[in-house]
Amino acid sequence: MVSRVIPVDDFDLVIFGGTGDLARRKILPGLYRRCLSGQVPDDARIIGAARSDMDTEGYRQMIREAIAEFGGPEAADGKAIDRFLTRLHYVTVDARGDGGWKELHDLLRKDVINAFYFSVGPGLFGDLAERLLRFEIADTNARIVVEKPFGRDLESARALNATLAQHFNEDQIYRIDHYLGKETVQNLMAVRFGNVLFEPLWNNHYVDHIQITVAETVGVEGRGAYYDKSGAMRDMVQNHLMQLLCLIAMEPPSMFDADAVRDEKLKVIRALQPVDYHHIVRGQYDKTRTSADYRTDAEDPRSHTESFVALKAHINNWRWAGVPFYMRTGKKLKARSSEIAVVFKDLGHSIFPGDEARHRNILSIQLQPNEGIKLQVTIKEPGPGGMRLVDVPLDMTFAEALGPDAEGVPDAYERLIMDVIRGNQTLFMRGDEVEAAWAWTDPIIEGWKARNDVPKLYDQGSSGPEDALMLLHRDGRKWREIKE
Ligand code: NDP
Ligand code: BG6
Repeated sequence: MVSRVIPVDDFDLVIFGGTGDLARRKILPGLYRRCLSGQVPDDARIIGAARSDMDTEGYRQMIREAIAEFGGPEAADGKAIDRFLTRLHYVTVDARGDGGWKELHDLLRKDVINAFYFSVGPGLFGDLAERLLRFEIADTNARIVVEKPFGRDLESARALNATLAQHFNEDQIYRIDHYLGKETVQNLMAVRFGNVLFEPLWNNHYVDHIQITVAETVGVEGRGAYYDKSGAMRDMVQNHLMQLLCLIAMEPPSMFDADAVRDEKLKVIRALQPVDYHHIVRGQYDKTRTSADYRTDAEDPRSHTESFVALKAHINNWRWAGVPFYMRTGKKLKARSSEIAVVFKDLGHSIFPGDEARHRNILSIQLQPNEGIKLQVTIKEPGPGGMRLVDVPLDMTFAEALGPDAEGVPDAYERLIMDVIRGNQTLFMRGDEVEAAWAWTDPIIEGWKARNDVPKLYDQGSSGPEDALMLLHRDGRKWREIKE
């Protein structure tokens, strides 16, 4: 198999917040790797913009250091980095001031794609949008990329959508959820809609339940100020986990096209039943002998913010009625592992005498690390001794199945930025989707507040609080083990 890199058209990309953590850790190292792969035209330019007073040379030096730190193995190629840096420019602008905008206007080329990445807090989106138009920098062909969090509840998300809509059309707005850019997340759609095998079984006749786990080993890592106002529900469930739920549960779109896919995802979110509060568990990681607890990391000794959530959701439609979707996510858990597991029903009747085990087919989609897909099937245990059955995985770890082709796979940010340049919104959230997701999570968060809910403590390096295990145990089910 030969990996194919399809070059994108020429562009000028402005990164507001170009000196920030996200730009230095993800966006610029990602762009560097795309340049290295040959996907970016020689003339394409990247313009960092922020309040910090520095010139283009200073910015290039900052990004050289960022690539050395976050660029991965490709960062060893000094000549390639030098070439990449020549594409960079820097303009000092304040999103709330008037200085620098004229300079930005004059710098941009009008005959290439213009994209504006808002890698700043959402409080600045309106200011940036308004100035981009007032200074005649962006026109109706410009593309705007906005980061999460897209609001902190339905009301604020509506306000943000309204602000952006005053200045740009929906087909110009790219709302990032980087989980949609992950290779295996897209593979989920390929597996579902590119094979005849699964679709007939993908419903409540054959599926017992579905588990979605996004487990992290990291804590809040210096982001305490942001995270403590957010918690796992806003930071992970409202966006990443709900997007995964949508892709696993949606009806087949008529084609792989931005609105067709997003229409189907929206229907899933709208069909979600409100969650019974007995079906949600919140947790907060405790201290150990060597590492601090969540409250210390978040610098609030009385914080009731959750670093873990587990819940049981139901989708009210013909396909999924009665099938529980168990979702959990948390920080400082036992392993970094994200997995979706489709657990099929037991056989109604076994023809093998003496075989009392509960054999189940399980389709497990491993998002990270070790991306791949496994199908648990039941076979005869080899050798004499009669028909003894055993469950084994049919394993398609992508690194093994695809060999070197699996290595050059772009990371989520790289792929999504290239999609912006290509003008493909399929892997971005539409405004109505984001609002529908908040409409489902808001009552959960409000319920916690109204009941003064206190999260359960859990041990670092565990699978979360005991109550999360009970959530499935009560239903006669078991979480899959969290392991890399
Ligand atoms: P940082 O605080 O590290 O960076 C913020 C950037 O915005 C800096 O470049 C800052 O530069 C610039 N900035 C701040 N105020 C202004 C202003 N008035 N005018 C122009 N520029 C301004 O934040 P992050 O990079 O971490 O996050 C950026 C966005 O991305 C946020 O919305 C965040 O929620 C989101 N995000 C971040 C992730 C991450 O891993 N960091 C992950 C997912 C989303 P200066 O001070 O020089 O102006
Ligand atoms: C971000 C969250 O959106 O996703 C972080 O804000 C989280 O809290 C991160 O750590 C997880 O992303 P990934 O790609 O490492 O699974």
